[in-house]
Amino acid sequence: MKLLLIGYMGSGKSLIGKMLAQAMQLPFYDLDTLIESNYGAPIPTIFSEKGEIYFRKLEAKILRETLESNQNCVVALGGGTPCYAQNMQAINAKQDAFSIYLQTDLPVLVERLLSELKSRPLIAHLKSKEDLTDFVRKHLFDRSPYYMEAKLKIKTSAFTPAQVVEKIVLQLF
Ligand code: S3P
Repeated sequence: MKLLLIGYMGSGKSLIGKMLAQAMQLPFYDLDTLIESNYGAPIPTIFSEKGEIYFRKLEAKILRETLESNQNCVVALGGGTPCYAQNMQAINAKQDAFSIYLQTDLPVLVERLLSELKSRPLIAHLKSKEDLTDFVRKHLFDRSPYYMEAKLKIKTSAFTPAQVVEKIVLQLF
């Protein structure tokens, strides 16, 4: 089985993913890292050299390659992965893939993202906490229908990463 973690930037996909992989004794992959290795440069460089559309095409290709592999694993997707190229459809069509949405409240996302603006090309231009809050509120609203297509939805804001992992594991068995 492939366990695919989805959720907005800052929802903890990578941290929870690594911990979940450890708990399940499965290998962990980060789709952003697979994309960076394939292209040979960090995500912000891909955006600045080639633009977002190129990035989305590469993201869809690497996602499909990952879905086609026979390996059981945990994969953290990018925040936008479910929202492009019919990726959620591709994920949910796979018998051996199980999608998990980490549902995180706006104020928690904003606090986490404030310190990491520069490493995230979609929000790097925002100048204040208010601008970031407005942007994330609308973006999250637009993306939620895709995220809600996940098989399992887990509210994360009131829980530690270990508790979130425990909740996921309990739902899997
Ligand atoms: C993106 C999220 C990023 C990365 C890229 C685009 C998005 O991944 O894929 O910067 O569209 O939300 P994380 O959610 O892991 O930060």
